Amino acid sequence: MNTDRIRGMYDILPDEIGWWRLAEQAMIDTARRFNYREIRFPIVEYTELFARGMGEATDVVGKEMYTFTDRKERSLSLRPEGTASVVRAYLNQGWHTQAPFQKLFYIGPMFRYEKPQKGRCRQFHQFGIEALGSLDPSLDAEVISFAWSMMDQLGIGGLWLRLNSIGCSEDRERFRAVLHAHFSRSIAHMCADCNRRLDENPMRILDCKEPQCQPFIDTAPGSADHLCPECALHFAHVRSLLDLLGLGYEIDSRLVRGIDYYTRTVFELMSKDLGSQDTLLGGGRYDGLVETFGGPSIPGLGFAGGFERLVIILQERANAKLTETSLDLFLATLGEAGRRYAFSLAQRLRRDGFSVDIDHRNRALRKQLTLANALHARHLLVIGDDEARAARGKIKQMDSGEELEISLEADTIADVLRKGG
Ligand code: HAM
Repeated sequence: MNTDRIRGMYDILPDEIGWWRLAEQAMIDTARRFNYREIRFPIVEYTELFARGMGEATDVVGKEMYTFTDRKERSLSLRPEGTASVVRAYLNQGWHTQAPFQKLFYIGPMFRYEKPQKGRCRQFHQFGIEALGSLDPSLDAEVISFAWSMMDQLGIGGLWLRLNSIGCSEDRERFRAVLHAHFSRSIAHMCADCNRRLDENPMRILDCKEPQCQPFIDTAPGSADHLCPECALHFAHVRSLLDLLGLGYEIDSRLVRGIDYYTRTVFELMSKDLGSQDTLLGGGRYDGLVETFGGPSIPGLGFAGGFERLVIILQERANAKLTETSLDLFLATLGEAGRRYAFSLAQRLRRDGFSVDIDHRNRALRKQLTLANALHARHLLVIGDDEARAARGKIKQMDSGEELEISLEADTIADVLRKGG
C-alpha cells in the first residue's frame, strides 16, 4: 500500500496549528471590523465555471486544474480559487435582484497542479474577500485597506503594495493590441508558452517568469497609460482614497495578474520574507464576471491570499508570538479505584468547560508527572485509591508549586481552577 503524501499536499501538524489559528483569527476579526460575512462553498464545481470565469488561456485553467469526470460523464474540477464560486453562489441566491450589494469572505483549501516549492503547493489554503454591487472607488480602497488591516493586526512588516489599473474591457482590448505589436517584434526569441500566448492573450505574457522573456517584458508598455478617461478618473480616485487613509502603494503599470476576469484596479501585496513566491495576496476588480456567468452587469472586486505564505512570514518574524496551549488540570492516578474516580471527574470538569487530561496507558506515577509537565498543565491532582475513598486530595498549582488540600468534588475543584487563572 502506498502511504506517501501526494506531492505538494501537506499535513498541517498540531505543532503548527497555532500559527494557522492565529492567521485565521486575524482574517475573521478583520472581516468583523469591516462587516464582511462568511460564505462557504463546495470544493468541487463544474469545470466550465473556472474555464469561463478565469479564462481558458490562463495557466490555472490550461495547466493546473485537477479535473475529472463524475459517474455521469460531467467534467468537474477541484476549485483552484474562490472568486468564481462566490459569483456563482451570488447568482444562485438571486442576490443580483434582491440584495445586489454583498460583502463576503471565505477561508479554505484550493487546488492547483503547480510545481511545488517554498510557499507554492498543490493543495493550499486561501483567505479571501469579495465585494459585489458597486463601482465606487471607495470600495476598492476599502478592500485594499482590509488587506493592510489584517496584516497590521498580525504585526507583520516588510510588506509593499503594487497597484495598477488595467481599465475596462475596451481599454484591455486596446492594450492587448498594443502588447501584441510590442511582442510580435521579439516573439522569435521568447519561450514556447509566450508564442502561444501572443495570439491567445498577450497580457498573459506579462506573467511569464522565463528568463529569456524578461528583457521584452521589462520594455513592454504599461496598461495605466492606455486607460479611457473614465477608467483613468476611477484609478485617480482610488489612489486619492488610499492617500487619505495613509496606505502606501507603488504603481506598477505592468501588473496585470494571471486571471482573465480582472478589470480596472489590480493589486498585489508583496513580502520580502517570501523569497521567489513573494506575493502574499492579490486581487482586483472583475466588473464583467457576473455578466459572463449570465447575470446582469454587476461589478465586483476582492482579493485572496495564501495562508501557507502568511504562516511562513509569521514564523520568521520574531514579533509574532504564539501563546502556548496549556491544560487546566492533569489527573495522575494510582490504582484502579483512583483511575475510575479520575475518569469520571475528568468528564464532569470537561463538561464545565475545563481542559483536563489523564494518562491512558496505566503508567508509573513518575511518567504521568512528566506528561503533565510536557502538556503545560496548570494544575496537578494525584488520585490514588485512598484519595478516591476519602474524596479528598491535594491539588498542586504547577507554577508556584503551592499545594492545597481540598475535597475532590467537581465543584470545589472547578473553583480552584477558576481562581488559579
Ligand atoms: P491568485 O493570485 O491566483 O488570485 O491567488 C491569490 C493568492 O493565493 C496568491 O497571492 C498566493 O498567496 C496564494 N496562492 C496561489 N496559488 C498558490 C499555491 N499554489 N500555493 C500557495 N499559495 C498560493 C486568486 O486566486 C483570485 N481569486 C484572487 C481574487 C479574489 N481576485 C479577486 N477576488
